[in-house]
Amino acid sequence: MAMLELKDVTISYKNVPAVQNVNLSLEEGEICSIVGESGSGKTTVIRAVLGLLAGGGKVTKGDILFDGETLLTRSGEEWRKLRGTKISMIFQDSGAMMNPTRKIGDCFVEYIRTHENISKKDAWEKGVKMLENMRLPNGDNVMRSYPFQLSGGMRQRVGIAMGMTYQPKLLLADEPTSALDVTTQAQIIRQFMELREEYGTSIIMVTHNLGVAAYMSDYIVVMKDGIIEDEGTRDYILKGTRKEYTKTLLDAVPSLGGVRYV
Ligand SMILES: Nc1ncnc2c1ncn2[C@@H]1O[C@H](COP(=O)(O)OP(=O)(O)OP(=O)(O)O)[C@@H](O)[C@H]1O
Ligand SMILES: [Mg+2]
Repeated sequence: MAMLELKDVTISYKNVPAVQNVNLSLEEGEICSIVGESGSGKTTVIRAVLGLLAGGGKVTKGDILFDGETLLTRSGEEWRKLRGTKISMIFQDSGAMMNPTRKIGDCFVEYIRTHENISKKDAWEKGVKMLENMRLPNGDNVMRSYPFQLSGGMRQRVGIAMGMTYQPKLLLADEPTSALDVTTQAQIIRQFMELREEYGTSIIMVTHNLGVAAYMSDYIVVMKDGIIEDEGTRDYILKGTRKEYTKTLLDAVPSLGGVRYV
């Protein structure tokens, strides 16, 4: 049984379908990327999985199953238990999600204490450990910092550390590296891959960059105008596809000194 299954899912905003007839299944430890141009429905799909659709979005057809059980009829309370523990989401710019007037440590401690009944001191130590796992040296210092005192790459690592605190079985990441420089982007991508190695985490990663998708994914889904235009294993997408649209995306992958990133 797949860990996550989207069955013929249609998602609408105010009854206007934005994403239609999506089928997708993800096994434990599998990494899947969703690529496609702006407005193709990538964010809509992963937000639907986490029950966090904005703008009155609703799943109007089909079903989304996690460990064989539907996610669509969960109560608010059930979602609170699931989010952060079994399923986590990392946003494009974790920094923008952070309260600029509060230190990282205050937010992290509060986050941990909504999930676990432990002392502030223990929550602090747990936070420091998670930050250091994400290769943020001197976690104590990071905890004592305001978001603006950290670089964009550091803030994103903080966001990932928070998202990984409870070793979710499924990590949903929406363009988690696109605001970062290429070096930081590569480091963070490698960290995602390590999470899979260490914890068997399954990952769905939304990205504009087919090069990034090709580098890290087992399976790639190409979306266009709200439908799945093409999909398959990495090898199929890179070498076997017959879809003109996918080939156009491949041609747009940046190259450096004549060497392509894929
Ligand atoms: N909050 C919203 N309210 C109404 N319609 C929305 C909302 N969010 C998305 N949509 C609709 O859903 C479509 C898909 O949007 P979505 O944000 O999922 O695309 P995307 O592939 O993530 O794009 P991008 O790469 O720009 O992030 C949009 O074209 C828009 O019509
Ligand atoms: Mg998006």
